Amino acid sequence: MKIIGLVGSPRIEGNTSILVKKALDGAEFEGASVELVQLSALDFQGCTGCEGCKNSFRCVIKDDMQKLYDSLEEADGIILGSPTYFYNITSITKKFIERLYCYDTFDALDRSVWINKFEKTGTKYAVTIAVCEQNDIEDMGVTSLVMDKSLQAVGYRIVKSLKILHVFKKGEIVKQIDSIDEAFEAGKKIAKTIKLNQTVNC
Ligand SMILES: Cc1cc2nc3c(=O)[nH]c(=O)nc-3n(C[C@H](O)[C@H](O)[C@H](O)COP(=O)(O)O)c2cc1C
Repeated sequence: MKIIGLVGSPRIEGNTSILVKKALDGAEFEGASVELVQLSALDFQGCTGCEGCKNSFRCVIKDDMQKLYDSLEEADGIILGSPTYFYNITSITKKFIERLYCYDTFDALDRSVWINKFEKTGTKYAVTIAVCEQNDIEDMGVTSLVMDKSLQAVGYRIVKSLKILHVFKKGEIVKQIDSIDEAFEAGKKIAKTIKLNQTVNC
């Protein structure tokens, strides 16, 4: 069982990073092998809409996403974290999500008919972690919604969508013990879900 943590914050040691790592610890506790990817350390661009992926489920842009596609396809699940930037995900998280467009394919004559790659190869699982400064969930805007809906569209079942409020300065999340525990439990949950999938026969 393999789970990849993806950090969509430009702050390498920031709050999102700490929470994603803690979730990976939870997954590891349940027996997963884990890998951490700082999306800000990769050199990649957003989708160009070229449709080069149309029949292949693979993007044609040659950048660091190519390595990541291999890892994503090999992994059973992901833990994706983004801070809220102006009520939304960060631009780094956005360009990562855009590049998952290649995992969908549409009917040639009716674009309301579509499937994703993982419907063919097996469901993948995801935890999302949204992190914001304000106390009011309204100020998180669409951060969780955008991650959850987009990942669902490309074949991930969201087992937990964490919304972490009231954390501003880099790294100060370590003082919110409940949030750290929540992230650890979410990591355990995704690993346990994958284990269940691997053990049940029908
Ligand atoms: C450009 C920018 C925009 C932000 N917009 C919001 C916002 O709309 N709502 C909010 O609650 N926090 C907002 N924040 C605060 C961050 O979400 C918060 O500091 C978070 O803890 C950063 O996570 P990180 O340490 O992982 O980078 C914003 C921060 C920046 C730098």
